[in-house]
Amino acid sequence: MHRGWTPALHPVGGPPPGRFRGEAPLFQVDFRNDRVNEDMNIRPFQEKDRLPVIDLWKEAGLVVPQNDPGKDIDRKMKVDPDLFLVGEIDGELVATVMGGYEGHRGWINYLAVKPCHHRKGYGRLLMESVERLLKRKGCPKINLQVRATNSGVIEFYSAMGYGNDNVVGLGKRLMHDS
Ligand SMILES: CC(C)(COP(=O)(O)OP(=O)(O)OC[C@H]1O[C@@H](n2cnc3c(N)ncnc32)[C@H](O)[C@@H]1OP(=O)(O)O)[C@@H](O)C(=O)NCCC(=O)NCCS
Repeated sequence: MHRGWTPALHPVGGPPPGRFRGEAPLFQVDFRNDRVNEDMNIRPFQEKDRLPVIDLWKEAGLVVPQNDPGKDIDRKMKVDPDLFLVGEIDGELVATVMGGYEGHRGWINYLAVKPCHHRKGYGRLLMESVERLLKRKGCPKINLQVRATNSGVIEFYSAMGYGNDNVVGLGKRLMHDS
């Protein structure tokens, strides 16, 4: 949890409109704590981010053989691309989160922070940003799936206020990427 610090989020130029334009950052993040002296801009994914995003996902261990990350990006750009956020520090892409909403539940995928920037509060800031966007779309609840063995990430989500719904996650693949 917090160690006596609170990151402040400042919407740039007031609340962002329903769609985000150009290079303008979604939020200018101002860290006022003694652990971080960098700023992270959070904004929607742009095509120029594709390769750094895939590199980050590989580094974070999120790329698995059954999912082609490029195809995942292509599919996301067709459905609610405004929920696919990246975080950058001094122009370097260091974090991602891919939100989704199907009219009933919000979903989170591809949350990743560059390992050298872990435990600086960036994961929390990205989650707060995507939660805010989902809420603005009318989403009442977010669901997400974490591998049961991924205890650190379960602790992270627990710190973000996510509880165990005691459900069994089921899935059926409709398309094979390779
Ligand atoms: C999950 C992840 C995005 C967290 O990002 P982060 O920027 O390091 O997280 P934060 O610094 O915002 O952490 C906020 C709080 O969550 C908790 N937390 C985060 N990582 C934790 C860990 N490994 N173990 C225990 N608690 C953790 C802590 O309470 C932390 O607050 P503190 O540092 O003041 O104690 C990052 O670990 C990551 O990229 N992991 C690899 C990719 C991954 O597995 N993604 C999830 C797929 S489901």
